[in-house]
Amino acid sequence: MPAAPTVPANTPRLGAYRDQTIPGRFTGRTVVVTGAGSGIGLATALRVAREGGRVIAVDLSAANLDQLVAAHPDLDLTAVVADITGQAGVDAIVTGAGGEVYGLVNCAGLMDNFAPVGEVTDAEFERIMNVNVWGTLRTTRALIGVMGTEAGGSIVNVGSMASLGGGAGGVAYTTSKHAVVGLTKSTAVMYAAQNIRCNAVAPGAVMTPIPKNITSQHGGRVIGPLLAATMPSLARPEAVAATICFLLSDDSANTTGAILTSDGGWGAQ
Ligand SMILES: NC(=O)c1ccc[n+]([C@@H]2O[C@H](COP(=O)([O-])OP(=O)(O)OC[C@H]3O[C@@H](n4cnc5c(N)ncnc54)[C@H](O)[C@@H]3O)[C@@H](O)[C@H]2O)c1
Repeated sequence: MPAAPTVPANTPRLGAYRDQTIPGRFTGRTVVVTGAGSGIGLATALRVAREGGRVIAVDLSAANLDQLVAAHPDLDLTAVVADITGQAGVDAIVTGAGGEVYGLVNCAGLMDNFAPVGEVTDAEFERIMNVNVWGTLRTTRALIGVMGTEAGGSIVNVGSMASLGGGAGGVAYTTSKHAVVGLTKSTAVMYAAQNIRCNAVAPGAVMTPIPKNITSQHGGRVIGPLLAATMPSLARPEAVAATICFLLSDDSANTTGAILTSDGGWGAQ
């Protein structure tokens, strides 16, 4: 099995980022965050809640959500244990939100095994598409009907550098993250008149526990050196959460249908 790609020793790591909050930015607003039990989703849920939002924190992991809520009794965090790939899961999210929703961050996602098109199995392709595309679609479809009143609504989809090119994952992950771009742009156009914006963030490499299981020899041989040669920095999840919160908030009121990188300059190369 090929080794996971490594970042060159001289690469600047965990690019400088100072935690801050913008008090009251989400006061009076309900924001659903999927994948809130870990990594980028967890950092986003905390930042929204610290800025006054009522957060519906969604994840498969009950243990992680319990820990999140228990550690922050001062914040308005409602845990919803749900699988976004099924109707029962998205129904539970709508019930947990309990009415009008301002924001949705579709962050739950999986990485693939780096398999190229000639190798990928139906099971692997379906596993990735089911969460990254179908889960994002199902959650958005379920919530869009309770978004977009006078206060408007804002959806942020989490893409990847694999939304923009073919050199950051296998065929399943790359296809899924390109599909997220299509979902984002279609939603932005279709719901502009309802005052609902939809944007995507394209993170570079982020220090999270996302499971990496690179079993494809071919994929590891091709993509590994590409990542090692081009990846400029490894970001803290809070730095990506800051970009998501910009897109989620009125700070980006004039922006919809955009794919905004949060990648330490990776995409500029
Ligand atoms: N970590 C990176 O370097 C990186 C880079 C680019 C994009 N991303 C994207 O960012 C997003 C978050 O990744 P992360 O690194 O924070 O990962 P993570 O594994 O730390 O967090 C993802 C969370 O999603 C949850 N989840 C997975 N499937 C789910 C399902 N069916 N229903 C509900 N919850 C589910 C997991 O339980 C987990 O808590 C993903 O969409 C990923 O593709 C990550």
